[in-house]
Amino acid sequence: MRTCRVGLVGAGGVAQRHARVLTGFENVELVGVTDVAAAAAGRLVEEHGGRFFPDIDGLLDAGVDAVYVCVPPFAHGPVEEVVLAAGRPMFVEKPVAVDLATAERIGALVAERRTLTAVGHHWRYLHVVEQARELLADRPVRMVSGAWLDKVPPVDWWCHRDSSGGPVVEQAAHVLDLLRVLVGEVAEVTAYGDGNPPPVEGADIDAVTVAALRFDNGAVGTLASACVLGWKERAGLEILADGLALTLAEDGLIVRDADGERSYPADPDGARTAVDRAFIDAVRGVGDDIRVPYPEALATHRLACAVATSARQGRPVRPAAGEPSTTTTETGVPAHV
Ligand SMILES: NC(=O)c1ccc[n+]([C@@H]2O[C@H](COP(=O)([O-])OP(=O)(O)OC[C@H]3O[C@@H](n4cnc5c(N)ncnc54)[C@H](O)[C@@H]3O)[C@@H](O)[C@H]2O)c1
Repeated sequence: MRTCRVGLVGAGGVAQRHARVLTGFENVELVGVTDVAAAAAGRLVEEHGGRFFPDIDGLLDAGVDAVYVCVPPFAHGPVEEVVLAAGRPMFVEKPVAVDLATAERIGALVAERRTLTAVGHHWRYLHVVEQARELLADRPVRMVSGAWLDKVPPVDWWCHRDSSGGPVVEQAAHVLDLLRVLVGEVAEVTAYGDGNPPPVEGADIDAVTVAALRFDNGAVGTLASACVLGWKERAGLEILADGLALTLAEDGLIVRDADGERSYPADPDGARTAVDRAFIDAVRGVGDDIRVPYPEALATHRLACAVATSARQGRPVRPAAGEPSTTTTETGVPAHV
């Protein structure tokens, strides 16, 4: 395939970004976009080219080689089903769904059809993430604290649990994804929300959430999420191993060890370009660097949903099962340990 013909479903903020990146690649043609809001699609087409299609079927019939699914969390599911039925490779924006059941259903279809997929966890393309992995290769992580402390994003669906899944699922998922890569799989989470929405009319999400995490490999950690500020305070991880402290964010890595402190800047725009480059090259058959295919994002989504479920239901949850953990014994040790 010389040129990859791409269609977009959803024409909002993140679709605009993908359209800008993709039209900067010489071997990509933006065929068009469909959006339930025709005006949003019109703006995208005007700025980046391609045609407006009133529905996904029309977009697929135009002969696209790959589809970007850039819809809000609540709209995932039916879109992916149509794209998968048409046998097209698909790039899905995170989070992969508003809930776990939808994501599991789509994950099963992706596995059944062996569809080429990628998910927009672009932090995985930061070179400082690779650097952190190398530094931790011979030193087991003891403790990690992840945080996403921010404002409420300016999209109307974000403050409604049924639309977004809440801040942990919608936003802190980037941090949870890195936590899995750099520390390991989480065996169990216990989370608390404050039960109070952020100061936005109609909001029904927890404004702050904290979670305690126990990893399969024995490491322990925390996650903190907040959307009560007017600015982005911090989003990233602090990792402790024997004689090593790492502070990792989208814009850089700070390493502290016996040799002192070193700082390494990161290139978030480069990572946002790389995630698209890797997908397009895989579709064209000239690359093999998709770091987060759908099944990998599904594992991150299970963890995010486990945190949200634990906070909502007030019980420990095991992400792998999506179920409550076994009850605590009289000694205070969980029965499954
Ligand atoms: N990876 C990243 O860094 C990153 C950055 C921004 C947003 N996102 C994710 O992208 C997703 C979308 O965010 P956004 O900021 O673009 O939201 P947005 O509200 O700006 O845009 C979403 C668009 O999807 C359209 N839409 C809704 N339902 C649809 C449907 N069934 N079919 C077609 N179009 C539909 C809406 O009309 C809207 O134009 C969110 O899940 C968000 O988390 C990811």
